[in-house]
Amino acid sequence: MDMLPSAPAGSPMLESLPAAPLLTREFDSDPAGVYQRLRHTYGPVAPVALMGAPVWLVLGYAEVLEVLRNESVWRRDVRYWRARAQGTLPPDWPLLAGYEVRQTMFMDDEEHRGARQTHNTALAPFQNGQSPQGWELRAAVARYTDELVAALATESGPTGYADLCAQYSRPLLLMVTTKLFGFPDDLGDELVTDLWQMLDGGEEAGPATGRALAAMTRLAAHRRAEPGDDLPSHMLFADPGLSDEQLGRELFMNAVYLNDITNTMVLNTLLEVLLGNAAVRRSLSVGQLEETLNRAVLVNPPTANMPFRFAARDVRLGNFWIRAGDVVLPSAAGAHRELMAGDSAGIAQSVLSTRAHLGWGAGPHQCPGAARELGTMIVTTAVGRFFEHFDQAELASAPDQLPWRSGPMVRGLRHLPVYYELNQHSRARAQLPAAPASRGQDGTGGAGAVDGSAPGSRGRRGLFSTMRRMMPGGR
Ligand code: HEM
Repeated sequence: MDMLPSAPAGSPMLESLPAAPLLTREFDSDPAGVYQRLRHTYGPVAPVALMGAPVWLVLGYAEVLEVLRNESVWRRDVRYWRARAQGTLPPDWPLLAGYEVRQTMFMDDEEHRGARQTHNTALAPFQNGQSPQGWELRAAVARYTDELVAALATESGPTGYADLCAQYSRPLLLMVTTKLFGFPDDLGDELVTDLWQMLDGGEEAGPATGRALAAMTRLAAHRRAEPGDDLPSHMLFADPGLSDEQLGRELFMNAVYLNDITNTMVLNTLLEVLLGNAAVRRSLSVGQLEETLNRAVLVNPPTANMPFRFAARDVRLGNFWIRAGDVVLPSAAGAHRELMAGDSAGIAQSVLSTRAHLGWGAGPHQCPGAARELGTMIVTTAVGRFFEHFDQAELASAPDQLPWRSGPMVRGLRHLPVYYELNQHSRARAQLPAAPASRGQDGTGGAGAVDGSAPGSRGRRGLFSTMRRMMPGGR
């Protein structure tokens, strides 16, 4: 006898509820305000319209954890999705292209566990600082950051204006991906643009997904023919049964995380420092870069809303009955509002640590341990070394004018404009003339002193000189 409950007659269906569009101009500029209003209106689970499709947005911390952890109810396989199966979701719905790429993230149970093991095994040598591959990758990431700063200095001078997305983090992640994936040639910005299109549901999402997938499948075939000491080859060693197409799909998903999500985490962390988040900057000044990252992720998790889950059966969540086949969107950013309720002192006195954030996900699909170590190494190296090179860096945009990407999943910047002043050591490395008189303090949103005092030149210099003393290998 089936003892599982089903939704009581008369409880509202997702499609029948008046759901407001989630992706609005207000959402781009103030997502926290939108989450707060939805929560106030509906409680921890709210119906929203996502590019025309009705979706349950899960905002409560406990409810998000339930969805991420309980895989017997909350499934990943898109075939559970009722609207897709019944054809009420248009085939050209902008986010569908990404969900049709069947790889680890959209598998369940045994199949999922096997595929996940392949990722962990293949990534393990690259995240381990003691193994030759891990050591080499670490050294390469550090070298790339130095090269990018030198290129920025040559291009824009020892003091000036830079876009840290275009001139630092984005090329850095392209260089890391080229190396880790063993691409025969340097990857171009086209791959980044294609991945953005897919994740943000841009007009070109379908063709962009096809292009990125085709590039990864070609790479898979190339590496099968000519194995190397790179991630695709290690994935083939870990699971020789992978076809070129399946390996291409897995690499495609790794490329999303490595290129786009890791880049976003670098930018979001740099931004919190530049905005003068006192707790973030204190952790940075004492060399606790992982804590810096955790605190920045609490404020702006890169995967703000995680990939969909589909209800296997009728189930109560928040104030609603979710029907079998309904789609839910677990919101890390929404759940973090609860962790940050009050102010930063809340965390200090709370039973929760800053590591309670959901930036890596939770449950059976959370970011695999080896990937997480690798991501952490890249972000902490990129952020730490950045501040080693500069005497000053301050936002060149008013905080409320920052160019955020518009999309349902990723909370990330298109550009991170700063005014900077390179320090003497980095000038010498880039063979530039010695420092002229310091620039005036007319920028906006500059980082305050590390001790939390008001923003100002002295405070910023304090931050950077403290940083240099505290950084491993600092000067
Ligand atoms: C530092 C940046 C990173 C962040 C913030 C991040 C975040 C996440 C999150 C939130 C998930 C869970 C998604 C879900 O539950 O649906 C995830 C899964 C995953 N990530 Fe990461 N990730 C990062 C870096 C990486 C890197 C560098 C790789 C590999 C090169 C990677 C590979 C994966 C894989 C394979 C999964 C799927 C796991 C599964 O479905 O079982 N991630 N990541």
